[in-house]
Amino acid sequence: MTKQKQLNVILLGAPGAGKGTQAVTISKKLGLAHIASGDLFRKEQESGSELGKIAKSYMEKGQLVPDDVTVKMILGRIAAPDCAKGFLLDGFPRTLEQAKALDRALKSQGKKIDMVLYIKVSVKELLRRLSGRWICRNCQAPYNIVELPPKIKGKCDRCGGELYQRADDTEETARKRLDVYFNQTMPLIEYYTKSGTLVEVNGEQSVEAVGRDVIAVLEGRK
Ligand code: AP5
Ligand code: MG
Ligand code: ZN
Repeated sequence: MTKQKQLNVILLGAPGAGKGTQAVTISKKLGLAHIASGDLFRKEQESGSELGKIAKSYMEKGQLVPDDVTVKMILGRIAAPDCAKGFLLDGFPRTLEQAKALDRALKSQGKKIDMVLYIKVSVKELLRRLSGRWICRNCQAPYNIVELPPKIKGKCDRCGGELYQRADDTEETARKRLDVYFNQTMPLIEYYTKSGTLVEVNGEQSVEAVGRDVIAVLEGRK
C-alpha cells in the first residue's frame, strides 16, 4: 500500500491577522487537522489543569507561554490519528526555538512542513479587529461585531454556541501581544523564507478573498 501524502501547513500572522478565521474553513475543505495553540491553552484553562494555570499567568499579560511546555503540548497533538492527512498549525510556532524544535521532531518522523502561509495585515487594522472580536465557546469560530457579526446576536452561526470576548482582547493587552509578535515571532518570516516554504498572502481583503488566495496557494494555483 502506498503511503498517503501529507500536507503540513503553518498559518503565520500577527494577533488579529485572521489565522483562526481562515483555519476553520481551510481545514474543513482540505481535511486537515486544525491545531490552534491558543485554543488548546484556553481549553486547558477551562478544565482547570496545571498546564492551564501556567498558561493563564502568561496569556493574561499578553506574553508567550514558555517554549518547553508549548512545544510538548503541540508535538503531542500532532501525533494524534486525525493528523494522518496532515495538519494546519494556527499560532504555533511563535519563536525560533519552537520552529527549530518542530523541524527536529518532524524530521525524526520522516515528515516536514510543506508550506508556511504568512497572512499580512497592518497594525492599525489588527487593533481594530481585535477589539471587536467575539468567539464561539463551543467551536472557537471568531466573529466581529463590526465586520462579521453573527446572524443571531450572541450565537454562533455554525453550531449555535454562546459567543464570548477573550480576556486578552482589551486594547492594552492586544498592544502587548503585538509587541511580542514583532519581537519574537517576526524572525520566523526570515527563517521560513530561507527554507523556501514561505508564501505571503494579503490579509487585508474580505474574509472570502483571503480564503480564495489561501486555497489557491495550497492547491498550487498561485
Ligand atoms: P492565540 O489564541 O493564538 O491568539 P493570537 O495569535 O494573538 O491570534 P488571534 O487569535 O488573536 O488572531 P487570529 O489571527 O486567529 O485572528 P482571528 O481569525 O480571530 O494566542 C493567545 C495567547 O496564547 C498568546 O498571547 C500566548 O500567551 C499564548 N500562546 C498561543 N500560542 C502560543 C505559542 N505558540 N507559544 C507561546 N504562547 C502561545 O480574527 C481576528 C478578528 O478579525 C475577528 O473578530 C475576525 O472576525 C476578524 N477578521 C478576520 N479576518 C477578517 C477580514 N479579512 N476582514 C475583516 N475582519 C476580519
Ligand atoms: Mg486565533
Ligand atoms: Zn460555534
